[in-house]
Amino acid sequence: MRPQDTTATILAISGSLRRASFNTRLLDEAAKLAPEVFQFDLYESLGNLPHFNEDHEMPAPPAVDDLRRRLRAADGLLIATPEYNASVPGALKNAIDWLSRPSEGETLPLKGKPVAIIGASMSPLGTVRAQLSLRQILHKLDAAVVRQPEFILGSAHAQLEERSSGLDFATAEVLRLVLEQLRTLIDRASHVSVT
Ligand SMILES: Cc1cc2nc3c(=O)[nH]c(=O)nc-3n(C[C@H](O)[C@H](O)[C@H](O)COP(=O)(O)O)c2cc1C
Repeated sequence: MRPQDTTATILAISGSLRRASFNTRLLDEAAKLAPEVFQFDLYESLGNLPHFNEDHEMPAPPAVDDLRRRLRAADGLLIATPEYNASVPGALKNAIDWLSRPSEGETLPLKGKPVAIIGASMSPLGTVRAQLSLRQILHKLDAAVVRQPEFILGSAHAQLEERSSGLDFATAEVLRLVLEQLRTLIDRASHVSVT
């Protein structure tokens, strides 16, 4: 079992392609919270992934290989999802569809992988439906998803647009607890090699 005082690598994926995305901001805030426990690998190529196509799986496109490699190298995954039309944005679902399939000779990339879901939107509902949808997808893929606490940030603009200092204390505390639970799942999965 990996001791708590070593660093775990987290692949951080924002489901938004928007330059000023609140969800990408959330990942930045998460990275600031626990630099001694986590090393973040921020995935910024969601928009470069081709649409999933079974005809193009073998060999996989280079962008897909890169994503799978980074997921395999990570001890855990943190996904910040926006909500589009009461569900997960298409670009994020597309990435997960690629990750739901193994590359040649490899195991399923998300099976047993510790994952935490967070999300922010401007509406008071704050991605609750997108997160439920994402949980259902990850359940199907047998990922080890943090159950509690849930991090659902409604009216995201109030904190992430109008405040220059980032999340307020109470919100940051929930995010910190999510990361703590993610770390617990990582340690339990013993996926981490000691650095
Ligand atoms: C096509 C589209 C659909 C949306 N649907 C929802 C929705 O169902 N629920 C919601 O809370 N916000 C919805 N929104 C608002 C987004 O949550 C908001 O734009 C949010 O800031 C997007 O995340 P981002 O800041 O990370 O890009 C929608 C936005 C777009 C562009």
